[in-house]
Amino acid sequence: MAASNSKEAEPLAGLIGKSPAMQDVYRVTRQVAASSATVLLTGETGTGKELIARAIHELSPRAAGPYVRVNCGALSESLLESELFGHVKGAFTSALENRTGRFEAAHGGTIFLDEIDSVSYTLQVKLLRVLQEQEFERVGDNRTIRVDCRVVAATNRDLLDEIEAGRFRDDLYFRLNVVPVYLPPLRERTGDIPLLAAFFIRKYAESNGVSISTISDESLAALARYSWPGNVRELQNYIERAIVFSHDGHLSLDLFPPHVRGGAPVRVSRPGARNSESLCRELVSHGMTSAGDAAGNLYERIVSLVEKELIQQVLKSCQGVQTKAAVRLGINRNTLHKKIEEYGLESEEGSAA
Ligand SMILES: Nc1ncnc2c1ncn2[C@@H]1O[C@H](COP(=O)(O)OP(=O)(O)OP(=O)(O)O)[C@@H](O)[C@H]1O
Ligand SMILES: [Mg+2]
Repeated sequence: MAASNSKEAEPLAGLIGKSPAMQDVYRVTRQVAASSATVLLTGETGTGKELIARAIHELSPRAAGPYVRVNCGALSESLLESELFGHVKGAFTSALENRTGRFEAAHGGTIFLDEIDSVSYTLQVKLLRVLQEQEFERVGDNRTIRVDCRVVAATNRDLLDEIEAGRFRDDLYFRLNVVPVYLPPLRERTGDIPLLAAFFIRKYAESNGVSISTISDESLAALARYSWPGNVRELQNYIERAIVFSHDGHLSLDLFPPHVRGGAPVRVSRPGARNSESLCRELVSHGMTSAGDAAGNLYERIVSLVEKELIQQVLKSCQGVQTKAAVRLGINRNTLHKKIEEYGLESEEGSAA
C-alpha cells in the first residue's frame, strides 16, 4: 500500500475512533466525497453508516445542496414509491394533490437510501433506471423528470445473500456498489471503546445535568470484553443508562447490564433486548433506596427509557410502519407519532393516515 496521508485518516466531524479500520473508513469517505460516485455503505447495525452518509454529503461539492434521507424500510411498497418519485393528483384514491418526490427534492444534492435491502423487487427496477438514466416519472404521470442527485445507499444485510435468495436484483447491486464502504463492527476495534465511552459520557453527563462523570477501569475492561452485537448504538445506550443510574457521576461496573458485566452469553436471537423488569429492579436498588429529592425525576427518566426502547422495538418489528406499531402498542397513532418525535426515533412514514 502507498504511504497514507495522515490528514486523510483523521476522524471525520462527529465521528469518534482512531483504530486502523476506522482510519480506512475516513480515508475512503474523504476520497469518494469529492466525486459523484454512488456509494454503498455496509456494516452491522449501529456501526455509523448514517454518520458516514452525511459526511459524504457534507464533504462533497454538493454540500450546499439538499441532503435527503429516505428510510426505505419504514414504508410499504406503494408509499415508498410515491415518497421517492412523487405522484400526481388522482394517481390513486388518496392522491388528492400533486406531490413532489424525494428524488426531486434532492436535486443538486444527495439522496441517502437507507435500508436499501427492504425495497421491493418491482421498485428496484425503477431505482435502477434513476441510477442509470437519472430519470423517472411520478406515479400516475407519463412526463419524464430528470434529476441530478448523488446516491448513497446503506444496508446492514449482506446483499449478496439477498441476491442469492432472489430478493435483490444483481444489476441494481452492481450499480449501487460503485464504491463500497464497510463499517467495521465494534468488537473488531476495541481500541476505540475508551474514546467512544469518554465521548458518550461527556455527552450524556451534560444532557443529564451531571457535573463530572468518570468510569472505572473495571467497567472499561468489561466493555472491551463484550461482543457488542448492537455496536456503537448499544454502547451509547448503556453509557446513557449508567449515567442515569449513577449517584455520584462515577460509572462503576454494577451500573452496566449483567451480560456486559459478567460475560454471560449474548442472546443473539433478540439483539439489544432488555426487559423492563430488570430496569425496574435496578431502579429499586440504585434509585429509590436513596431518599432522593430526584426520585420522581429519576422515575420519569426511567419510564421514558423503557418507553423509548419499547417503541423502538415495536417499530422495528413492524418495519417502521407507524399505523401497525400503534395498533400493536395499543396507543393512538398520533400519540405514537408525538413520542417518535419526542425521542428522536427514526421512522419516516409518509403522510398516509
Ligand atoms: N464512530 C462513531 N462516533 C460517534 N458516534 C457514533 C459512531 N458510530 C456510531 N455512532 C452513533 O451510534 C448510533 C448508531 O449509528 P448509526 O445510526 O449511524 O448506525 P447505522 O450503521 O446506520 O445502524 P443501522 O444499520 O441500525 O441503521 C448513532 O447515534 C450514532 O451517532
Ligand atoms: Mg442507519
